[in-house]
Amino acid sequence: MRRLSKKTCVVTGAGRGIGAAIARAFAREGATVVVTDKDADSAADVAREIGGQARQLDVSSEQDWEALAEAWPACDVVVNNAGITGFEEALRPHDPETASLEDWRAVHAVNLDGTFLGCRYAIRAMRPRGAGSIINISSRSGLVGIPAAAAYASSKAAVRNHTKSVALYCAEQELNIRCNSIHPAAVLTPMWEPMLGTGPDREARMAGFVADTPLRRFGEPDEVAALAVMLASDEAAYMTGAELNIDGGLLAGSAAAPKTE
Ligand SMILES: NC(=O)c1ccc[n+]([C@@H]2O[C@H](COP(=O)([O-])OP(=O)(O)OC[C@H]3O[C@@H](n4cnc5c(N)ncnc54)[C@H](O)[C@@H]3O)[C@@H](O)[C@H]2O)c1
Repeated sequence: MRRLSKKTCVVTGAGRGIGAAIARAFAREGATVVVTDKDADSAADVAREIGGQARQLDVSSEQDWEALAEAWPACDVVVNNAGITGFEEALRPHDPETASLEDWRAVHAVNLDGTFLGCRYAIRAMRPRGAGSIINISSRSGLVGIPAAAAYASSKAAVRNHTKSVALYCAEQELNIRCNSIHPAAVLTPMWEPMLGTGPDREARMAGFVADTPLRRFGEPDEVAALAVMLASDEAAYMTGAELNIDGGLLAGSAAAPKTE
């Protein structure tokens, strides 16, 4: 018996990166996967590869979620994975002093509004069966301040908190709908490309980004997917409102910790 057999799982932003890895892992565990992404072509490619259903869905669009609810009125697992840093189109300033309101709102519209809409869809789609698992992909950046990516950090912190509101609401409603968040640190996906570049200093930049990570490497999308499988499965039946860090040990210590030498 595979761990997610007979479960219908919706994954957002599943056309590439962590979302695609989660969709593949869910399919390997026997789930019916609804592969959604703003980019219809990449969703179609992943769905074809894993034998899933593809759907174009912009998580910040209420209309897109309503259309999904018509097509898939019931489901067992929703992974709110789609997210942006704000650096996809151009490396504009995202610090608290010079960031534009437009850029601030654009990041929140996807990362936070998208997660709110995804959780709302999920509760409604899970209520008839009275059970389900909602997995929100927050970030290590939701637990600490990031001066150069303030909107990203703010939106991910809000996702962390909303996860707990959803978890408590569902419990109050006597629904067995669990809601948990995953907090990855640097995971090597296309999201990093604008920051790594293709020049000769790419390797040095990569090393620089993980220099403070105790395990001294980027995480792999499959390593995040393994956690999502656990939270989606009935093995996690007693987990709700929890936050799982997957960060190579980054949050285990602090730069202020005394050194031994
Ligand atoms: N990669 C990391 O280091 C890292 C670390 C912590 C958290 N995360 C989070 O993990 C999630 C996935 O990140 P990734 O690294 O795989 O990113 P990615 O940029 O490689 O992939 C994101 C996917 O989301 C899709 N997408 C973007 N905007 C969308 C929208 N409005 N609606 C629907 N789909 C949309 C993109 O088309 C793309 O397929 C994000 O929420 C991200 O914030 C990533």
